Amino acid sequence: MDLKSLIRDIPDFPKPGILFRDITTLLSDPQGLRYCIDLFTQRIIEADLKAEYVVGMESRGFIFGSLLAYQLESGFIPVRKPGKLPAAVHSIEYALEYGTDCLEVHQDALQVGSRVLIVDDLIATGGTAAATAKLVQKIGCQLVGFGFIIELRDLNGRKNLPDVPIVSLVEY
Ligand code: PRP
Ligand code: ADE
Repeated sequence: MDLKSLIRDIPDFPKPGILFRDITTLLSDPQGLRYCIDLFTQRIIEADLKAEYVVGMESRGFIFGSLLAYQLESGFIPVRKPGKLPAAVHSIEYALEYGTDCLEVHQDALQVGSRVLIVDDLIATGGTAAATAKLVQKIGCQLVGFGFIIELRDLNGRKNLPDVPIVSLVEY
């Protein structure tokens, strides 16, 4: 199955000059979604990235991260935008392809030495994934790798990530 054909391109969203890769059309396709998650699971297992916890970033990382965690029989830890998590948090600021933001994780969600796989729908500049990596490493977790459905190669977000394996299914 051609995953790319299920991802819709929207020019100039959310700002002029950004070509937005829209995964909602992939999500709504029953066979496409199953194929995508099965392939993602297989690629993560082949790369030996099965971890105790999948950490996924708000909001599209929640969708793919939760589905993958279920498949791997791992726990899922949400990394959220500021002010959403109810208990004590660790926070970190990060740069986006189109702005800046902050991410938070519950202080007690992960433990020193926990094996963690970071999952998001897409890597652009790598700012979001790099910030999430800093958060989990600050807690003392063992970061085993990253998983993305989409990688925007031109932006070379990989160079901003720590030196652990990276799985991505579709490249632009
Ligand atoms: C998008 C995407 C990644 C991030 C990638 O999220 O889902 O999390 O941008 O960009 P980067 O590699 O340059 O950091 P966004 O912040 O738009 O939030 P959303 O998932 O809530 O739409
Ligand atoms: N997040 C950052 N850049 C993006 C893009 N071009 N398409 C979809 N999500 C994004």
